[in-house]
Amino acid sequence: MKVPFSPPRIDERTLEAVAGVLRSGWITTGPQVRHFEERLTEYTGCRATVCLNSASAGLELALRWFGLGPGDEVIVPAYTYAASANVVIHCGATPVFVDSGPDFNLDPEAVLRAITPRTKVVMPVDIGGWPCDYEALREVLNRPGVRDAFVPATEAQRGLGRILLLADAAHSFGAVYKGKRIGTQADLSVFSFHAVKNLTTAEGGAVCFHLPPPFDAQAEAARLRTKSLHGQSRDAFSKMNSPGWRYDILEPGYKCNMTDIQAAMGLVELERYDEQLEKRRRIMHRYDEAFAGDPRFTTPCWKDGDSHSSYHLYMLRLNNTSESQRDAVIASVFAREVAVNVHFVPLPMMTYYRNAGYDIKDYPGAYQSYACEISLPVYYDLSPEMQELVIASLMGALNEHGLQG
Ligand SMILES: Cc1ncc(COP(=O)(O)O)c(C=O)c1O
Repeated sequence: MKVPFSPPRIDERTLEAVAGVLRSGWITTGPQVRHFEERLTEYTGCRATVCLNSASAGLELALRWFGLGPGDEVIVPAYTYAASANVVIHCGATPVFVDSGPDFNLDPEAVLRAITPRTKVVMPVDIGGWPCDYEALREVLNRPGVRDAFVPATEAQRGLGRILLLADAAHSFGAVYKGKRIGTQADLSVFSFHAVKNLTTAEGGAVCFHLPPPFDAQAEAARLRTKSLHGQSRDAFSKMNSPGWRYDILEPGYKCNMTDIQAAMGLVELERYDEQLEKRRRIMHRYDEAFAGDPRFTTPCWKDGDSHSSYHLYMLRLNNTSESQRDAVIASVFAREVAVNVHFVPLPMMTYYRNAGYDIKDYPGAYQSYACEISLPVYYDLSPEMQELVIASLMGALNEHGLQG
């Protein structure tokens, strides 16, 4: 493959950082993880951060922290990766899908229509790194009619007194909504550091807390951290470094902590992250130059006023093109040794969710976005020559299928 889709940025600095941890004698959760959490809190501007082994774990722990269970509903976009909805099922609750707008993100009006007295959580997803309309979402959740209809059942739910805004920010680390970074827009925001994400720790994720009073973000973060380690009152590092071997089990917790090896990678990535964002921004700008004036394409939203994307995915749409034509174009691009991708097959089209009774006909916005979408490569090591090859390959593939300009 001349142009892979999304290789990680691994260089000597990453290798040295990982080797340093391996040589240190402490390889699981310890000082590197704590340091990474502090740096993430500073970078995003949130109040506290907990690092975990994935965003999926972060989303599930966040739902469990809020006390989600059978009978509860969580509003999730139909147009997202399975993790967003699967974690709701794990908790025994019901995902209620809503349709998306022309920017791929969930539509706040559709959220309002989907709220019932059973709704406990709204989970917006910043698709491709482009922030959802958080102002509109917060306004919906704070409407007197919506707030008053909320029926709290746990301590956390009583403390908040309304539906939780839990951002699936798996794609949007570093994105800015109306002048403020993602991590400060929702009550809790969950980032992914999976291998294909902008900032990677191979596998990994983080939950950023930005809860309103009366919550003490540090105390709630500590509670979530305990949940991530079998409910142990002290982790292995603190047991080793302070007298006394005793510990207690406070609850039947889970096992999804981040290791110091992962955090060491993350710290290197974070230090140079703004440079990476700038490179990604320039790549998107070049794609816009190539495609924006051409009636065959709809280019994605990645900047508007004082909001910008994390430039994670360049989600191009082919106008007046069917799903099968789009697939044929992708096959021709691959034949030119350029990897592209599709984000996402809407969840109501997936076997499990289809069998559970969801029907894609109820989500026309999600289907339209999916059927003609092609994600183009965006990453730090994508050279200008590689990018020109991507553009030429796509144009060539369109010509091959009779879709000339
Ligand atoms: C929208 C979305 N949410 C959640 C996740 C889960 O992230 P992780 O792989 O870190 O669990 C992904 C992963 O790609 C994603 O795309």
